[in-house]
Amino acid sequence: MTTALVTGASAGIGKTFCEQLAAQGNDLIVVARDAARLEALKNELELAHGVQVEVLPADLADRAALQRVADRIADPQRPVDLLVNNAGFGLRKSFIHNTIEQEENHLDVLVRAVLVLSHAAAGAMRARGNGAIINVSSVASFLASGTYSAAKSWVTVFSESLASELEGTGVTVTALCPGFTRTEFHQRAGIKAEQAAPGFMWLAADRLVRDCLADVAKGKVVSVPGPQYKVITSLLRVAPRSIVRKPKLVRRHRPNKED
Ligand SMILES: NC(=O)c1ccc[n+]([C@@H]2O[C@H](COP(=O)([O-])OP(=O)(O)OC[C@H]3O[C@@H](n4cnc5c(N)ncnc54)[C@H](OP(=O)(O)O)[C@@H]3O)[C@@H](O)[C@H]2O)c1
Repeated sequence: MTTALVTGASAGIGKTFCEQLAAQGNDLIVVARDAARLEALKNELELAHGVQVEVLPADLADRAALQRVADRIADPQRPVDLLVNNAGFGLRKSFIHNTIEQEENHLDVLVRAVLVLSHAAAGAMRARGNGAIINVSSVASFLASGTYSAAKSWVTVFSESLASELEGTGVTVTALCPGFTRTEFHQRAGIKAEQAAPGFMWLAADRLVRDCLADVAKGKVVSVPGPQYKVITSLLRVAPRSIVRKPKLVRRHRPNKED
């Protein structure tokens, strides 16, 4: 039995990771801002699977709160065997229409939190000679469209780089790159899901997480679940940058008239 720490555990992909990891008999540490949802998840998973779930509420954009999570990960008395850096969100507007504070908050959750928590985990896991880190990136990391895509590009490249640095230490790093997945993400970002992409482009979180965990077991560094996204990302990897920058490939966050 191992212990996994999952950020963004209160909803969507993070919650699905918790459900599947608990069903496999793993203890959990669940991190997000909504403490009530985390407590409900703890009760549900402890009852269903007989595992231990520790609730650690934190806003990952808050440096002190983030440090508390990093300290928990690095605690040698209570080892964390799997870190899932999953918390994230999309901004409702495009770069020039956001305040710099909104952009910095976004960057702090999507990038800085991944950096700080991976650092805490990699050091502790390397010292023990085993462990795994999953960084939830995006298919958008293969595009050049908006600060979301820029931040996710950082997550994918960082994960690949850390995986190389840790090769042979017993610690694996995997960037999970989901395509459109049915969660609360689009509603929170003010995106109408039905207009965002055609039906065949949508993934179920259950299948996404199952495929990712299978890729982690195989030691895969980049996990792209779904045959449609395997094809798209293979093409994007070799496409000229002018195609990668094509605005039509992604939804633009345009402000409403009243904004
Ligand atoms: N859904 C997609 O189509 C899709 C595609 C590609 C990549 N992704 C990535 O997948 C990851 C999970 O997203 P999701 O689709 O599962 O979205 P979701 O259903 O909206 O869940 C997002 C999670 O992140 C947490 N979170 C957001 N801001 C936070 C903060 N400041 N501090 C701590 N936790 C925070 C939320 O919890 P609280 O509100 O309780 O804090 C929630 O648990 C994200 O990194 C996202 O970028 C999603």
